[in-house]
Amino acid sequence: MIIKQAEFLQSASDYKGCPKPTHAEYAFIGRSNVGKSSLINMLVGRNSLAKTSQTPGKTQLINHFMINNQWYLVDLPGYGYARVSKDKRSVFKGLIYNYLEKRENLECIFVLIDSRLEPQKIDMEFIEWLATKGLPFVMVFTKADKLSKTAYDSNIAKYNKQLRESWEELPPQFHTSAVTKKGQEEILALIAETNQTVKERYH
Ligand code: GTP
Ligand code: MG
Repeated sequence: MIIKQAEFLQSASDYKGCPKPTHAEYAFIGRSNVGKSSLINMLVGRNSLAKTSQTPGKTQLINHFMINNQWYLVDLPGYGYARVSKDKRSVFKGLIYNYLEKRENLECIFVLIDSRLEPQKIDMEFIEWLATKGLPFVMVFTKADKLSKTAYDSNIAKYNKQLRESWEELPPQFHTSAVTKKGQEEILALIAETNQTVKERYH
């Protein structure tokens, strides 16, 4: 897919404030600082479409972007950032879970996982929740440029070992780096294919 157009549309504080569900939607989610905004910018080839920062917790709203006048891309708040208050965290959680469950045009959820870390409970729990709800998702390992191939493969293997304990089939997985653009083509291809499959629903 060639990205001809990418523009910020709006921010909403909950799913009710989202734009009308007139286009297929793809949401990016993961722990704070996992590299969501960087990945989004890399995917659409814009340096500063989504705001990136070294201050975790920067993305606090449901941010909609319109891509190629055809599909919505959504940058969600990071979950599980320990340095915000407990109250604020549960508000975030309610907001995100509500959006994920209720947003009718959400065609795929991209769950970002930091490839530098060993399997994290918070990520595994979130993935379990998505599976229980029957929501469509894929896993996206981020920051692949930051570690050696051996260390990278070892972390992925640990994730998959844990996943296989509860599942027979692993979810689709993507390997990415916002620095080297690894994974860009593959993710855009998935979105293009999905858009093609669901196009009757949006016109
Ligand atoms: P919040 O919005 O705060 O939840 O964070 P986020 O998940 O959007 O992360 P963001 O894209 O802001 O990236 C966090 C930090 O990781 C920044 O310093 C990025 O430059 C860095 N980063 C993100 N992706 C990559 C990557 O693929 N490779 C490397 N080397 N650094 C990355
Ligand atoms: Mg962000």
